[in-house]
Amino acid sequence: MRPPRSVAAKRTLALWRDLPRSARLHTNIRWRTAPFEALEVQVPRSGNILEVGCGHGVFTTFLAVSSPDRSVVGIDIDGEKIALAKQSVLGLRNGEANLSFEHRASGDVPLIDGGWDAIVFADVLYLLPVEARTALLAECVEALSPYGLLVVKEVDTSPKFKAQMAQFQEFLATKVLRITHGNALNFPSAVELEAIMTSDGLETKMSRLDKGYFHPHCVVIGRKRQA
Ligand SMILES: C[S@@+](CC[C@H](N)C(=O)[O-])C[C@H]1O[C@@H](n2cnc3c(N)ncnc32)[C@H](O)[C@@H]1O
Repeated sequence: MRPPRSVAAKRTLALWRDLPRSARLHTNIRWRTAPFEALEVQVPRSGNILEVGCGHGVFTTFLAVSSPDRSVVGIDIDGEKIALAKQSVLGLRNGEANLSFEHRASGDVPLIDGGWDAIVFADVLYLLPVEARTALLAECVEALSPYGLLVVKEVDTSPKFKAQMAQFQEFLATKVLRITHGNALNFPSAVELEAIMTSDGLETKMSRLDKGYFHPHCVVIGRKRQA
């Protein structure tokens, strides 16, 4: 569990101060249990960045607030979360951050001229069946710029005790409390993610981000090679 440390992290969470208590609580817990500050430094400091499955948009906003040279778009299949994300950023000052949110169907990845400089996933792919996540990753690789980065953060399947705790928590969130939308609960290992991304033609690198956390956070980063 880590509280927000950087100025941008504190600013991001402060935007939630006047939102409904349940959303505020959710975003604060999410922050403390996910390694957002370690993940943010893996994303290019400038350019067009897409976050797929942004939920309440806390990480999307943090990316944008951390560097105004990033132009960030967050998309999600959950319209209620996107509405809250939009509400949360109304408090941003003019020019403070460059970002927007869109409600989109699963697999509807927006395309931009020149492609995205980075596409980010933070704890989304475990909610998709294997075929759907493989197809979504391939679609995202297509949507990247010639040297774009695919940044995929998930909870790994090892060490086992940490993985089981994370999986139980996600079972509660999706199947019991129903605060997370998703078709499946199917946790990919970092090795599986790396294999998919390599077969999509990316040069990959895996790092663990779980020091000081209960969950086995890891990130696989894939760089596209110009075709
Ligand atoms: C655990 S939340 C993570 C939210 C956010 N990335 C974060 O780190 O706080 C998973 C999110 O993925 C979204 N999601 C599930 N399947 C999706 C899909 N096929 N396409 C886009 N978003 C999806 C859910 O609606 C949910 O908001």
